[in-house]
Amino acid sequence: MIEKKVRETFEELFGNDGEIRVYFAPGRVNMIGEHTDYNGGHVFPCALTIGTYAAVRKRTDRRLRFYSMNFEKRGVIESSLDELTYQEEAGWTNYPKGMIWAFGEKGMKAESGFDLVLFGNIPNASGLSSSASVEIVTGYILKDLFGFDVSNQDLALIGQYSENRFNGVNCGIMDQFAIAMGRQGHAIFLDTATLQYEYAPIQLAGAKIVISCSNKKRGLGDSKYNERRSECETALSELQKAVKISALGDLTEEQFEQYKDAITDDVRRKRAKHAVYENQRTIQAVAALRANDVKRFGELMNASHVSLRDDYEVTGVELDTLVEEAWKIDGVIGSRMTGAGFGGCTVSIVKDEAVEPFIAQVGAAYEKKIGYAADFYVVEIGDGPVRLA
Ligand code: GLA
Repeated sequence: MIEKKVRETFEELFGNDGEIRVYFAPGRVNMIGEHTDYNGGHVFPCALTIGTYAAVRKRTDRRLRFYSMNFEKRGVIESSLDELTYQEEAGWTNYPKGMIWAFGEKGMKAESGFDLVLFGNIPNASGLSSSASVEIVTGYILKDLFGFDVSNQDLALIGQYSENRFNGVNCGIMDQFAIAMGRQGHAIFLDTATLQYEYAPIQLAGAKIVISCSNKKRGLGDSKYNERRSECETALSELQKAVKISALGDLTEEQFEQYKDAITDDVRRKRAKHAVYENQRTIQAVAALRANDVKRFGELMNASHVSLRDDYEVTGVELDTLVEEAWKIDGVIGSRMTGAGFGGCTVSIVKDEAVEPFIAQVGAAYEKKIGYAADFYVVEIGDGPVRLA
């Protein structure tokens, strides 16, 4: 059991005296609604049963000791509550440090340091939000260890704040929200303009969610993520000269077509088109799911990929190959890239009997074309963060 291994590793490194607590926070996959969360649109992500395990013990001084079982070579990384600044060489520990810093900024200062061991069974840098998972597990730990009065929604907002302000990644709210607010068997239909949300059961009678990991590593910082954001911001300010809106998500497709010429550059017009149409697709997809029309939901997933490929241009040959090979297989209801793009994963809804041929055929075609293998995960939708022991 993973929980036991994490605790044992903690005891080997840091001793077994005192109270050791164990926690878990999930990763996430977004079913539809991509690059809409910083455009005031809707998203539809869910938490997974894979995620980040953490063993922790409070200290009596201000030291922090961090160890990740995923980055064993780095060994124990030491810091302190007096050194809460971003440091490139601090690697993954910038995520927990960013959370401690962000809590402090919100008036919740940790009164002592702690020792922390992490293990994640989400593939790193795959687009399943391993970093947001580390942020939320750390936030949950801070709340529990020091008795801070924060809701899970607060954890999501603090997580995004730390990612934006400490780690310098200009992400939206989707990842941290999906993880902090996860519910087993449900996706979260979130309006990022208002933070209103509803849980929608994902009932795929006779089908599974399959994640295909391209193994092309990406990081939001070095990707074109921030560039896409600013293209959308510029397009919005151009549109605002023609129509009264506060975000691209305020527009219907018809309104976009009516006002799109206010955007003076072809590329920017395509970016804005994606943001508007993807938001409307997400609303339609959730309605289709509620009407038990999984087929329609799948068609909208496919349309989402095409738009991300042609208009938003965030896919690349690896993700396109995974999706286009998936579309060839009987029993694939829908398939698209998920997350920021530029590498990472795709998400597909695949009929039970097609899962094995899917993995075999997409896997073989991908390796032949790209030159290295993809990984496949049949996933389950899980709950948000939890204390395990
Ligand atoms: C990343 C960001 C999210 C969201 C997606 C794209 O995962 O962290 O906020 O913008 O990309 O939908």
